[in-house]
Amino acid sequence: MKRGQKQKQLERQKKQRQQWMMIGLVVVGGVLILIGVLWRQSGSAAEIDLSDPQLVAMGEEVYNTYCAACHGFELEGQPNWQEPYADGSLKAPPHDETGHTWHHSDASLVESIKLGGARLEPNIGVSAMPAYDGVLTDQQIAAVLAYIKSSWPAEILEAQSVR
Ligand code: HEC
Repeated sequence: MKRGQKQKQLERQKKQRQQWMMIGLVVVGGVLILIGVLWRQSGSAAEIDLSDPQLVAMGEEVYNTYCAACHGFELEGQPNWQEPYADGSLKAPPHDETGHTWHHSDASLVESIKLGGARLEPNIGVSAMPAYDGVLTDQQIAAVLAYIKSSWPAEILEAQSVR
């Protein structure tokens, strides 16, 4: 082989290697972007975003299906909700600003919905509130809270407990 030919061949090989490296980089980049998108979707699913009308609408549907029978279709709670039943069990409080839902942080409300009445210490009372962990997805729970909170006036939203 002549010197010139060998040089050309070497350069061709170098070019090919570079092309394969570019393809490799593009594939790795694509996979990373895909993982990022999937991860973001799973991570942001539980965000309680009141400004998202789709999420609030989904929350209204979840609320009417699962919660309204006890907490009232207008979020008004059971009649005389502050007095327990004769057997001592608690009634469902309103979720509008007249109740005490806003005395709790988002995280503690999510926990109440997931664990239901079973989370209460016996000295606080007996509650028929069902546990929704495994029944509703994190997104449905975020949606129902977005719906509930979308009924609160600005000053109640601001006053909501951080604990
Ligand atoms: C069978 C009746 C019943 C159903 C159905 C029900 N709840 Fe309740 N819920 C209660 C009762 C009773 C309480 C009060 C005692 C307690 O905190 O467990 C309560 C309390 C709560 C609290 C705590 C409020 C506070 O201020 O401490 C939240 C939040 C809540 N419910 C949300 C929901 C949501 C959201 C749904 C629907 C996914 C739902 N509940 C369905 C009966 C019910």
